[in-house]
Amino acid sequence: MSFYVTTPIYYVNAAPHLGHAYTTIAADVMARHHRQRGEATFFLTGTDEHGEPVADAAHALGVTPQELADRNAERFKALAPQIEASNDFFIRTTDPQHMTKVQEVLTRVRENGFVYEGTYEGWYCPRCADFKAENEIDEGNRCPIHHIELTREQEDSYFFKLSAFQERLEALYAERTDFVLPRTRYNEALSFIRSGLRDVPLSRHKLTWGVPVPWDTEHVFYVWFDALLNYYSALSYAPAPAGLPEDESADLLKTFWPPSYHLIGKDILRFHAVYWPALLMAAELELPEHMLVHGFLLMDGEKMSKSLGNVLDPFAVIERFGADALRFYLLRDVPLGQDGSVSTASFEQRYESELANELGNLASRTIAMIGRYRDGTIAPGEVDAVLREDFLGLSEGVSECLDRAELTLALDEIWQRVRRLNRYVEEQAPWQLAKEPTRAGDLDLVLRTLAEGIRCVTVLLWPYIPTSAERLLAALGAPGLSLAGAALGTGGIEQVEPLEPLFPKDRGERELQSGEGTVA
Ligand code: MSP
Repeated sequence: MSFYVTTPIYYVNAAPHLGHAYTTIAADVMARHHRQRGEATFFLTGTDEHGEPVADAAHALGVTPQELADRNAERFKALAPQIEASNDFFIRTTDPQHMTKVQEVLTRVRENGFVYEGTYEGWYCPRCADFKAENEIDEGNRCPIHHIELTREQEDSYFFKLSAFQERLEALYAERTDFVLPRTRYNEALSFIRSGLRDVPLSRHKLTWGVPVPWDTEHVFYVWFDALLNYYSALSYAPAPAGLPEDESADLLKTFWPPSYHLIGKDILRFHAVYWPALLMAAELELPEHMLVHGFLLMDGEKMSKSLGNVLDPFAVIERFGADALRFYLLRDVPLGQDGSVSTASFEQRYESELANELGNLASRTIAMIGRYRDGTIAPGEVDAVLREDFLGLSEGVSECLDRAELTLALDEIWQRVRRLNRYVEEQAPWQLAKEPTRAGDLDLVLRTLAEGIRCVTVLLWPYIPTSAERLLAALGAPGLSLAGAALGTGGIEQVEPLEPLFPKDRGERELQSGEGTVA
């Protein structure tokens, strides 16, 4: 059993913002969850460094594309540990091994008869690095995403025979209705396919910043083909993840290909859901199992982006509240798949009411009561049958949700149990039981059940809030993270240790939102 999850590779034309952090965090939750299941897991992220978006940004700054790429790739690399991303590799498309692989695969595509020479004429958005069909153009020949004027391009290109895959793609979608999730995006991709596929440029003649076309070095590959192939090339030269058995480490492509999940934003659906499977078919490679398409994080109703200057600064949020709070907020507040508005007010509200009160206080109170009434010790025995019933099937339910990439739903399943534990404290009132010596056994049962319940939800919360979860599990003296141990009553907690507040309420006043310029 293996699991391979990817994020899009990020353009290095600007510094990372919350929209990028969002996808990486979602992929990280999936990767961590599968590691908890004991599966061989590979989690890939990285940077997309060729093409016009980067060349143009570098030109505007008066630096070479490579200099800009080096500078910003470092920032994306640095973001990963800050948001607690446990990626196994960070690919850069300027890695020579990647470039060689791109040439190799696309040469095979040509040898298989899916490349021809021609002339492209049409509308082009240099920021999307995308050729736009007539029905995708806003008034005034503008890009519907970037609102900039499109350019009219005419150039000699090599073309990829996308049209040859019309029937095979339709058959793929008919057979695998969960190839693209959620369903609305599946429908969108399918209707694009049904509307009739046209061949697409595979190379650029005017650009020099890219992977050279080996059979005609006057051309570089169109950046999207170079970029998509990162998911494949990375496994051919990345080091094996620590702890992977030797026989699975020798050839990562053999162990991990095809990808289990590509996580992408809705703006790059067509490249992934249409071009990518066609390209893989043309290269005779196995197709990914699923792609999960998420919506945009919005501020003031607009896609959050550097060029629009409306970003919630992930670094400021992390500095003030910690990465766990950011991770939790993004996956709790914005159902993955839909667009969602984020705001500092809703962030602070969730932090306070859910993390600090419902989870943090529950943990602190419970540990404090075990300290006060029982000197930190849990008497061995069964857990409360009522709670056992309420927790039945929880970890299986969470796994099922995550298999369908329902990250928000899985978190909600867990959180319902956090709330159940809070109600249990109120119902049982351990502080009353502690006053009645004849009910010592009941107090033991309640404290044991609470500690066990907190342990279970925390094991399940670990993919979402890894640092806080590890702290809490350490305080419970039960650091095990395996999902198999997430059933109520299996933890055998004996002794708990005092715990500093997990989510302190007073976090200073640093401004969380930043305008244009401050994140450049
Ligand atoms: N380089 C291409 C992807 C190539 S993958 C083979 C690219 N890069 S990007 O940096 O522009 O965007 C990367 C991802 O970030 C996309 O999935 C995009 O949807 C996502 N986001 C950028 N802004 C976003 C929001 N405001 N909200 C959520 N995600 C957004 O496209």
